[in-house]
Amino acid sequence: MKTPWYHRTSIYQIYPRSFYDSNGDGIGDLQGIIQKLDYIHELGFETIWISPFFSSPQADMGYDISSYTDIAPEYGTLDDALQLIQEVHKRGMKVVFDMVMNHTSIEHPWFKESRSSRDNPKADWYIWRDKPNNWQSITGGSGWHYSKERGQYFWSSFLPFQPDLNYRNPEVKKTMFETVCFWLDKGVDGFRLDIFNVIYKDAKFRNNPFSFKLIPTEDDPSGFFQEAKYNLNQPESFEFAKELRSVCDEFGERILLGEVSGDKSIIRTFLGDEVNNGLGLVFDFEMLSFQFNADYFRKLIERIETHFPNPFMPVYVFSNHDRHRSIHRLEGDLRKAKLLAMLQLTVRGVPCMYFGEEIGMTDLPQPFNTALDPVPHKFKFIPRFIFDLLGLLVNRDEVRAPMQWDGTRNAGFSSAEKTWLPVHGKYKEINVEIESKEDGSLLNTIRKLMKIRNEKTSLREGSLEILNGLPSGILGYQRKLKNENVTVLLNFSGQEKEFQFEFSESIFKLSDKDGAKEKAVRLKGFGGVIVK
Ligand code: GLC
Repeated sequence: MKTPWYHRTSIYQIYPRSFYDSNGDGIGDLQGIIQKLDYIHELGFETIWISPFFSSPQADMGYDISSYTDIAPEYGTLDDALQLIQEVHKRGMKVVFDMVMNHTSIEHPWFKESRSSRDNPKADWYIWRDKPNNWQSITGGSGWHYSKERGQYFWSSFLPFQPDLNYRNPEVKKTMFETVCFWLDKGVDGFRLDIFNVIYKDAKFRNNPFSFKLIPTEDDPSGFFQEAKYNLNQPESFEFAKELRSVCDEFGERILLGEVSGDKSIIRTFLGDEVNNGLGLVFDFEMLSFQFNADYFRKLIERIETHFPNPFMPVYVFSNHDRHRSIHRLEGDLRKAKLLAMLQLTVRGVPCMYFGEEIGMTDLPQPFNTALDPVPHKFKFIPRFIFDLLGLLVNRDEVRAPMQWDGTRNAGFSSAEKTWLPVHGKYKEINVEIESKEDGSLLNTIRKLMKIRNEKTSLREGSLEILNGLPSGILGYQRKLKNENVTVLLNFSGQEKEFQFEFSESIFKLSDKDGAKEKAVRLKGFGGVIVK
């Protein structure tokens, strides 16, 4: 069976507000993305995923939608969206929209109607209860919010202004499937599915059991002293994944990429049964808090290979619009960033890269109390150093600063007086223009690696075998497909390593000092090679 295209693809995430501003209002837009498509194409990525740009009060920067089929004016029009789809396809690329199915904005006409009385036609479109149970929202604190109009509480998995839709109501399901079809019909290649694992909640609203856990983690979303037993990862959500898949299958091979959380066996369940009949791909956020050493990545890959064997395909992601940028976690060390990219682009899985990672953009520290992101306002009374010690990003503005295109004003992102978020002070050193000219830059390293990935079927589709017996600090794996195979050797230590290794051809070296000497491989600190 031929693997679906989305198992062989590579994904570049665009945060539209920060990518490129074509009309000088300080906010990125759809025409801006169109203007920069050649950049992404030339970088070598096939698929772009764009964070939401639909009508929205922007209380959660577009993850609070007030119309699923209209475009927020600051981003453009429906025609711009259609043109974007066309321009992407013209270049042989794919485009993935962000579908926030779980909740709408509190400003959505559906919610306004639902809230207006207990017996209006949309009264049951959201989750209403006379009394709250003990469930906590994902951001902490009760997710139940009182509405005076109805004298009842509505449920919000995330923030109070993002009420959850009620998927137990067949009309809601039908309407959301129609929304999905609306965009598929327009040619979109699929969706990234926002907080997909909370779509269904326990039908009986049973209280969650007590847990000693305070802070939710990637592999276990329980936290705030309760086990997230009844509000997350319900069996109906796994079934829903299959239903959604069959709706999309009507349009051909379309990608469904789930934002889910839980241990690997749970997130794997969203992909359906053995034949892979659920979502096409899921994020595995464990790796967003990676430790930079060979042993960590070896074990991570082993766990992933156990849980996502063929015909499943894992996703490798190290940054997104909600978490610290990977370079921040690498303390700005570009040698490490190149090695991490080399792993991400050669391991068995779909790489998903957040805009700006390719040039090594770093976080932009910002105070909590002036944040545009609503989350830090919830936590502004807790001293920041506590979150820093725990490695948690609270103010997501810090990873959403504008793309650094060049060394001119506003990093070439916008001609406006003021950009929606400040441009990072380091833009004169870290930008696309400068790095394009420098052969060994992170950007050019990624370009070269992407080229190899796009040429070698074994890297996109082949099996993966971890090599044993390598010196400490070295991670090595072989990728194989029929009679094509390549070996990747990565030095996660800061020391130069030289060891016996037979190969016939060197395909790529991270630095000039990496390489082969007779039957030996020499890797400088944080060096890497691809050989055959
Ligand atoms: C997801 C999005 C995040 C958003 C939240 C609520 O986690 O990635 O940005 O705030 O869902 O929609």
